[in-house]
Amino acid sequence: MELTLCLIKPDAVRRDLTGSVLYMIEKAGLKVMAMKMIRLDKRLAEGFYHVHSERPFFGELTEYMASGPIVAVVLAGDNAIKRYRDLMGATDPAQAAEGTIRKVFALSKQENSVHGSDAPETAAFETAYFFS
Ligand code: CMP
Repeated sequence: MELTLCLIKPDAVRRDLTGSVLYMIEKAGLKVMAMKMIRLDKRLAEGFYHVHSERPFFGELTEYMASGPIVAVVLAGDNAIKRYRDLMGATDPAQAAEGTIRKVFALSKQENSVHGSDAPETAAFETAYFFS
């Protein structure tokens, strides 16, 4: 059993898509273990995305992540990190495969509706960032 962190981002929460995203996740067989709605401030968003701090889009990304409530969700399952990343689809919705969350809901590369941890070490850091 592996744990991973899902964030339902401000663009999706704002458009009342939280339930629809969770439905796709649960239908794919991933288990919701913990969940909360929170509003990040810029400093918390910067801490979460610190690995991207040198990227040109860092300022915009952290402003967007602090622009409205998000829902943080801990998911569990066999091979949960890869299964959830496959379900999310590519970062850019234009590149995302049919049936993925981002293909169905995302608006752009930045406003891409969901986040998922990309490796066991990031999953450990990211789940601990929001849950004790
Ligand atoms: P996420 O999977 O949460 O990881 C980093 C985030 O940065 C990514 O989703 C997007 O929201 C954002 N991002 C990645 N690439 C770009 C880009 N080229 N322009 C704007 N935002 C980006």
